[in-house]
Amino acid sequence: MTIITATDLSKRFKRARKDPGFKGALKHLVKPVFKEFTAVDSVDFSIEEGESVAYVGPNGAGKSTTVKLLTGILVPTSGEVTVCGIHPFENRQENARNIGVVFGQRTQLWWDIPVIESLRMLGDIYSVPTDQFKRTFDELVDVLELTPLLNVPARQLSLGQRMRCDLAASLMHDPKILYLDEPTIGLDVSVKARFREFIKYMHKERGLTAMLTSHDIGDIQELCPRMIMIDKGQIIYDGAFAEVTRRFGWEQKVLVTLSDDTPAAASAISVSLPAHASAAQDSPTALTVRFDSRLSTSGEIIRDLATSLPIADISIEETSAESIIRNLYEGSLSFSESTNG
Ligand SMILES: Nc1ncnc2c1ncn2[C@@H]1O[C@H](COP(=O)(O)OP(=O)(O)OP(=O)(O)O)[C@@H](O)[C@H]1O
Ligand SMILES: [Mg+2]
Repeated sequence: MTIITATDLSKRFKRARKDPGFKGALKHLVKPVFKEFTAVDSVDFSIEEGESVAYVGPNGAGKSTTVKLLTGILVPTSGEVTVCGIHPFENRQENARNIGVVFGQRTQLWWDIPVIESLRMLGDIYSVPTDQFKRTFDELVDVLELTPLLNVPARQLSLGQRMRCDLAASLMHDPKILYLDEPTIGLDVSVKARFREFIKYMHKERGLTAMLTSHDIGDIQELCPRMIMIDKGQIIYDGAFAEVTRRFGWEQKVLVTLSDDTPAAASAISVSLPAHASAAQDSPTALTVRFDSRLSTSGEIIRDLATSLPIADISIEETSAESIIRNLYEGSLSFSESTNG
């Protein structure tokens, strides 16, 4: 069953256009000039119940704005958004029952009161029946190992502890959907791993639908079989995460350590390398050669290198999902370049 739909969804913001300095500020006061800025541009997608979807893109792409449209915090400029069949901004309260939200940069816990009181208050706000509250509370305290944190005020929690408590807070009312906006930002590797385990658990046990924005490729790789990629407000990819590595994983790297300082090695070797390979010099003794593995084997590339350079060591690096996505962000790859469309 489809649980979230966005149809031709756009959000434009008015931005003040001020000339610099005091004079500019004064002019703006007298006669303000606004320029429209499109943060989300005719976006279409739908998400099925129980899916885990990564929503990724570079800074400023429009991810948080989309999440805010889905939560009803923002009203669409045009197009339509439905969550569990309702328009979030028209029915914010009803929508709130269906969703949980975690913003990595912010907390929904009350700063000065013990965590357990925050959780109880959330239960009250959402009118969760007592027995259901108790069940959910016990389960979340157990899985997230919150017992030692319950009597601590939120402001005394470390970032990782706060994140665990925030996860519990977002799920006290047993929502169908969880939006996670950069939930693992600043977390250490072990807390990240626990976070991922927890989301998998919620997915398995409760069939939770999750939409995750993250700059951490590990989060996406582990949690989200599907990835929607957005850039400048527009969706540039929507499909299997694995497909991205399959389509773009053809770029390979050979890292070369030279036995002598060879300051112009990169330009020397470029002559003998095939056109689909390029060399960059990282230091007088280190080269990185990138090539298209559909057109050459690494053996062929290494042979070309070895004939013209004094080589001390060589290693071959397959392209990681992370570097593929970085290249897509930087515009040095485009989906139209891929092998099969
Ligand atoms: N309330 C607002 N008023 C004006 N412009 C806004 C507003 N909120 C967001 N924007 C602009 O919309 C664009 C998209 O912002 P958004 O926060 O959705 O990006 P993002 O993809 O979440 O980026 P990040 O990875 O940095 O969190 C940005 O250029 C931002 O400056
Ligand atoms: Mg954001």
